[in-house]
Amino acid sequence: MTVLRIDGSIQGVRSSSSALADLVMEPIAARLPDEPVLRRHLGRHPLPADAWAIAVGAAYVPEDQRTAEQRDALSLAQAVAAELRDADAAVLALPLYNWGVSQHVKAWIDLAIIGGGAGVPLLEGKPVVLVVTRGGGYGPGTPKEGWDYATPYLRRILAEVWGADLTVVERELTLVGVNPAMDALTDLAAVVKTVAEDEAKAAGRALADRLEANASAAA
Ligand SMILES: Cc1cc2nc3c(=O)[nH]c(=O)nc-3n(C[C@H](O)[C@H](O)[C@H](O)COP(=O)(O)O)c2cc1C
Repeated sequence: MTVLRIDGSIQGVRSSSSALADLVMEPIAARLPDEPVLRRHLGRHPLPADAWAIAVGAAYVPEDQRTAEQRDALSLAQAVAAELRDADAAVLALPLYNWGVSQHVKAWIDLAIIGGGAGVPLLEGKPVVLVVTRGGGYGPGTPKEGWDYATPYLRRILAEVWGADLTVVERELTLVGVNPAMDALTDLAAVVKTVAEDEAKAAGRALADRLEANASAAA
């Protein structure tokens, strides 16, 4: 059994999404200490930006005529898809940048789709926790309502295209305390943070329950 952990933050140790994903992982580490965790940090070690286009082109070239570059791109795409297909569960920490997913996250998704096959449910029925963090506020009635183009896209890919049993933990207003223009939201941001942390811990407990149940069924 393997848990796939993917991080997309470009903010290093200051990452709020990675901190929340750590909370999701805590019950798994405590209750299933031997559970292997495969980590891919897309922000720290981005996948090559040109690999997807090369892999797409390579799919139209007979196998024995592919260049080394095409073979490398296809094998990377297949490896990324296999990580999803072989995982028993996944924890994904993918922040909002410029109102969408980062290029790093998009490159990962595109490679998994070309490597695994378009429309193939790589996460069929598997428990997946998606952690999303946003600097601003996007709730109903706020000026930026509807501007988060990442979360609906990620829900579509993870739950509908890849078939995951998806739980989403969201924390917004993370730029309060960083951007002085948001100081009036300090109390609200503190509540939002606590709620998100509680949700992350609950999602981690539920994930550990599922993994323990899988392990006993397999024994
Ligand atoms: C380059 C960049 C672009 C960002 N764009 C947005 C944005 O469009 N909307 C938003 O609400 N916050 C935005 N933010 C703030 C991040 O969403 C926020 O810092 C969040 O906590 C990022 O997660 P992380 O701490 O795990 O990196 C941006 C931050 C950076 C560094």
